[in-house]
Amino acid sequence: MSKTAVTRFLTGITTTGTPHLGNYVGAIRPAVQASRRAGTENFYFLADYHALIKCDEPSRIQRSTMEIAACWIAAGLDPEQVFFYRQSDIPEIPELTWLLTCVTGKGVLNRAHAYKASVDKNTAAGADPDADVTAGLFMYPVLMAADILMFKAHKIPVGRDQVQHIEMARDMAQSFNHLYGEHLVLPEAAIDESVALLPGLDGRKMSKSYDNTIALFAPPEQIRKQIAAIVTDSRAPGEPKETQGSALFQIYQAFASPQETESLRKAYAEGIAWGDAKQLLFERIDREVAPMRERYQSLIDNPAELERILQAGAQKARARATPFMAQLRQAVGLRNLATQAAKAQNDKTARAALPSFKQYREADGKFYFKLVDPKGRLLLQSAAFDSAREAGQSIARLRQSAGSEKDFTEVAKLAQDVDAVEIAAALQTLAGAG
Ligand code: TRP
Repeated sequence: MSKTAVTRFLTGITTTGTPHLGNYVGAIRPAVQASRRAGTENFYFLADYHALIKCDEPSRIQRSTMEIAACWIAAGLDPEQVFFYRQSDIPEIPELTWLLTCVTGKGVLNRAHAYKASVDKNTAAGADPDADVTAGLFMYPVLMAADILMFKAHKIPVGRDQVQHIEMARDMAQSFNHLYGEHLVLPEAAIDESVALLPGLDGRKMSKSYDNTIALFAPPEQIRKQIAAIVTDSRAPGEPKETQGSALFQIYQAFASPQETESLRKAYAEGIAWGDAKQLLFERIDREVAPMRERYQSLIDNPAELERILQAGAQKARARATPFMAQLRQAVGLRNLATQAAKAQNDKTARAALPSFKQYREADGKFYFKLVDPKGRLLLQSAAFDSAREAGQSIARLRQSAGSEKDFTEVAKLAQDVDAVEIAAALQTLAGAG
């Protein structure tokens, strides 16, 4: 596999709820499709550290982790072909979170939508701006950036509500790279315009927080009931209906082929009864979901199998994360002190960009030194010394001096077109470089 051609996709899903159609259409289904494209590497993970920010019910976290893991596999994800893991199984992620925390402006986090929404709400209620805001909520974007940057992901398929987080991750990567060198890959949000947001029962975005979702793997009868609850207008059967702004139509479109969508559009124009449209929607969804439901149920009934899959996934993910984290630790200076000798050697190479003294012996048997600039141009040429030691001592004295003419006239002379000011500057540069 050629290294440069691979595009890495990464998707996280917070383990606080039961997967619903919005998750399926907006994240899971497109991600599973993307996972099969040639030239891609795909990372899917259960964002259970993020879940702790929103949820303090251990049993719910556990249940949701199981349901979401089962859901993705049932939706066709092949853990052998992708990186499928649980965030909390990768200790490098919180480790990277800290490194990023240290390069992130607090003011940047102040502007994160989720945090700002809490502050605005508190302010409107006359409460302390940070009332009930945990540091976890405040730090949410940093943890998310670590998820992304840990695996050098290029594309992050997300809904519009998450775009700001991706931009923040990008900024953090830039700050880090600016300070420590080009280690982190700058990620980009990848939004599928056609299905980014699925409306819920009430027409607002389908979301756990609005309690307007349709469960993905609920028993069919429950799904039928939920579909019956989708808000419509009061037009009677036979009256033409608007597709625009119809949540029912949009949900249908998310499952249907273009031809199927066209025929429902026609049916709307011809005045299909809302009850019949809902029946069509139920059938269309069930056609896609029914085959997955069986696999889902068998995984839910066999948590040990799920756990085995996640452990294997963690191992595969850490094969990337562990060496990369070691590289980042090295970059910021969290280093093994015993191997510093080797590093010092490298630093010497870096010093090649400084002026330097060269000591050498000529055919006359005498010892000399010269001072050259970073490009090797001669600045100062020494007189002859009888021993290397004397030449060395002379260099040492010069290094201590201010480099004015009287400091070296006895032992060396200026090269052509060089004056004492330039020597003084060169010696200062050397002294500054330690
Ligand atoms: N914040 C995402 C959400 O609420 C979940 C998430 C956590 C995520 N880490 C991520 C998504 C990294 C993409 C990449 O949906």
